[in-house]
Amino acid sequence: MDTRIIIKLSAYVQSGNFLNRPPNFPINKDQFNPTLPDPHNTSISGSCLPYPLSVKATTLTDISAHPTRTDDLNDILADAFALFSRGVADRRSAFRTPTIASIGSDNTPRIRTMVLRRFDAMNRRLTLHTDQRAGKLADIMHTPNLALHVYDARAALQIRLAATAQVHIEDEVARAAWAASAPISRACYAIEAAPGTAVAAPPSAPSDKESGFKNFAALVLRFHRLEWLWLHHSGHRRAAFTWGVDDALHATWLVP
Ligand SMILES: Cc1cc2nc3c(=O)[nH]c(=O)nc-3n(C[C@H](O)[C@H](O)[C@H](O)COP(=O)(O)O)c2cc1C
Repeated sequence: MDTRIIIKLSAYVQSGNFLNRPPNFPINKDQFNPTLPDPHNTSISGSCLPYPLSVKATTLTDISAHPTRTDDLNDILADAFALFSRGVADRRSAFRTPTIASIGSDNTPRIRTMVLRRFDAMNRRLTLHTDQRAGKLADIMHTPNLALHVYDARAALQIRLAATAQVHIEDEVARAAWAASAPISRACYAIEAAPGTAVAAPPSAPSDKESGFKNFAALVLRFHRLEWLWLHHSGHRRAAFTWGVDDALHATWLVP
């Protein structure tokens, strides 16, 4: 698998200012290519590097790579989960901004882009953040059945999920999600008029980083079906993974 090391900007050079780094920074793969015990999240520090620094490193499949494990259903599922995990961490990943579909109170479909904030592979849960006053919230509370769609054009890969949503408002889940949010994201929820309100001119951006919690909601989606479609000149491939009420997994190939 083509992997590379992404050195996060949170890295800091122990001996000086990051901006005064040597001209050859960041280190490229040929200079520094360790075997990482945990392929997703490993801290490295110390003298094995060209100069003293401490970084958090993440090994990731090349962002533009097509999937490499396309013969085995277990591998496909594991890689699909890894892509969602990556979406949380990597702003450039298509999995960072899935499209979420819900059903309106008039029974018509509604879709919108949302940022994937958290992925819990073990429990098949994804967390999204929204404003309690947004149109989607009432719809989701009425009909919690959602679909999620990601198309990664660089990988020619589409993944669709069928899920049910739980809305968390001013509870422990909402508080943890709020605490994990960046201040700039929190400020969005402080806007006075509800999202979707018609206004005479674009409102100015709110700046208060705390008062918006009263409008904040965390959406936790639990999915029971994952469908994978990969387009390739050698033959398209499609697979479906469904979990029953007992959480038993059924995996099958589908005609693309
Ligand atoms: C890149 C991108 C990311 C977005 N992320 C979110 C998000 O995380 N939560 C959210 O409520 N809306 C997000 N939006 C705005 C929604 O797409 C949508 O316009 C808004 O939530 C109103 O949707 P609704 O009327 O269906 O409630 C995002 C939009 C874009 C373009």
